[in-house]
Amino acid sequence: MSNHFRLLVKNAKQVVLICSNGEKYLTSDGMQHLSIIENGTVGPANTIKIQYPEACFDKVIDATGMCVLPGLVDAHTHPVWAGDRVHEFAMKLAGATYMDVHRAGGGIHFTVEHTRAAEASELLTSLSRRLKRMLRTGTTLVECKSGYGLELQTELKMLEVIDMARHTLPINISSTYCGAHAVPKGKTVAEATEDILQVQLPKLRKCMETGALRVDNIDVFCEKGVFDLTSTKSILQAGKDMGLNINFHGDELHPMNSAQLGAELEALAISHLEEVTDEGIAAMANAKTAAVLLPTTAYILRLPQPRAKDMLKAGVIVALGSDFNPNAYCCSMPIVMHLACVNMHMSMSEALAAATINAAYALGCSSTHGSLEINKHGDLLILNTSRWEHLIYQLGGHQELIRYVVIKGNII
Ligand code: NIG
Ligand code: FE
Repeated sequence: MSNHFRLLVKNAKQVVLICSNGEKYLTSDGMQHLSIIENGTVGPANTIKIQYPEACFDKVIDATGMCVLPGLVDAHTHPVWAGDRVHEFAMKLAGATYMDVHRAGGGIHFTVEHTRAAEASELLTSLSRRLKRMLRTGTTLVECKSGYGLELQTELKMLEVIDMARHTLPINISSTYCGAHAVPKGKTVAEATEDILQVQLPKLRKCMETGALRVDNIDVFCEKGVFDLTSTKSILQAGKDMGLNINFHGDELHPMNSAQLGAELEALAISHLEEVTDEGIAAMANAKTAAVLLPTTAYILRLPQPRAKDMLKAGVIVALGSDFNPNAYCCSMPIVMHLACVNMHMSMSEALAAATINAAYALGCSSTHGSLEINKHGDLLILNTSRWEHLIYQLGGHQELIRYVVIKGNII
């Protein structure tokens, strides 16, 4: 056995493994069968008992009557920011659209102003609080974006804060440079693109090369009135050339052919996709570009629901994310799965696979995360209930339902 903390979870009523049979994702058929062991121990119980008596373990959990699942993966969040936008929620309830608020200088611009002014320590405190909240509702791997700086200094500050959280908290983090989240006030799209290509990305590359910063993905908000297809392409390509995974916002409010662009660039993932076309869906299935669907955003902004069933039918790798940000204030992946089932018509098995193995795939992490399989990290949840579906069926109260969150074999 390795030197890692050794945890044995025995007698569980159900163990949901989500085996991917060596693949790094599940498509529709595989998502129906999540490899559930009834009355099991994590791993083949008999083998564990014969090879390693209980005394060999640092900790033994008797999970009688409980369920074991892989830790949840949140494939899309914007968790570093100062200020909040509760006043805009009232405006949107009264009928303002997301872009009405944005064009009036609010939305992302409002958050940019506050985030630029905030000290790194202040951002780290609020980020840590939010990440701990995510952990308590079962998220063990989370994607965290920058994108409320829109200039070098603040974008770097945000990425450094994410790196600090990575080193101080047990939650696993995949970090994303999102300097193209909006066009800064007073700049044209061409000027903003130039700044990203000539100033921000070269500095980022240096920081990554010296080991001063770890960044995993690159993102652009590809939208009418934000970054068009041409500027999106040049930014994503430049990021890819630096070794970043492409994982961007596309086809959210208008059909932009973002899905086709993502497929062409071999993007690992595209988020939102409320307005994706049939051609876009086919291109993503073909390119194995994951669709990260965000049910909270469609719900809060009263957008058309993402076409999850059409995507699944076409063979797209469907994943889920909370999109936690000042517009969509939800940290909880169990609530996200619930909304995906009720509003997007996904089955509970599909939603769980989308919030584990497929979300890990969207972050390039599915060989180590997203299922309970040999050689993976051992990130898991133990639920105080005899059927795993309670995690999705119950709308809220998940902190009580989740008895243990375990990361790399350690109880958090
Ligand atoms: O994914 N659509 C762009 N970005 C975020 C919203 C960010 C914000 O409004 O602060 C999203 O929904
Ligand atoms: Fe987003």
